[in-house]
Amino acid sequence: MKRRQSPSVRRGAPLAATILALLAGWGPSLAEPPPSPALSRGRALYESRCGGCHSLDAHRVGPLHRGLMGRQAGRVPHFDYSAALRASAVMWSASTLETWLRDPEALIPGQQMNYSVGSAEDRRLIIQYLGAATHDSPP
Ligand code: HEC
Repeated sequence: MKRRQSPSVRRGAPLAATILALLAGWGPSLAEPPPSPALSRGRALYESRCGGCHSLDAHRVGPLHRGLMGRQAGRVPHFDYSAALRASAVMWSASTLETWLRDPEALIPGQQMNYSVGSAEDRRLIIQYLGAATHDSPP
């Protein structure tokens, strides 16, 4: 009986190690408190309104957003910004993002995003989400 069990125990060990490694990898997110309803709504809005062109960690039609808050506009490497964004001295903050999402052309004339968010409440939720999500280190 003992001889028969041991191979399966040995087979089980790598699996257990894999599960432990996965759990360790997921540890930080498991340890985080669940996001507040406002952050969840902000995230859903970000994904539906911005996600077609942006993501946190990869350039798409628009630049990646990781590290956005406190960064100067037009400065993420390897993204082909408009001349207007590259020349801009705007610093991304809740207040510059509010203007940008209301009317990008009003903040940086000549920009090429040309996409705005009409609802003040949606802008607030998206900016709150960006503030919370973009300062994390990449996965
Ligand atoms: C249709 C595509 C598109 C959509 C939708 C879009 N963007 Fe953009 N975004 C861009 C492009 C393109 C740029 C670069 C503009 C330039 O270089 O002039 C940009 C630039 C930006 C920048 C400046 C980043 C930097 O590194 O300076 C921010 C911030 C931004 N977008 C936020 C958002 C948010 C938040 C949303 C959703 C509400 C959104 N964008 C929706 C295409 C888009």
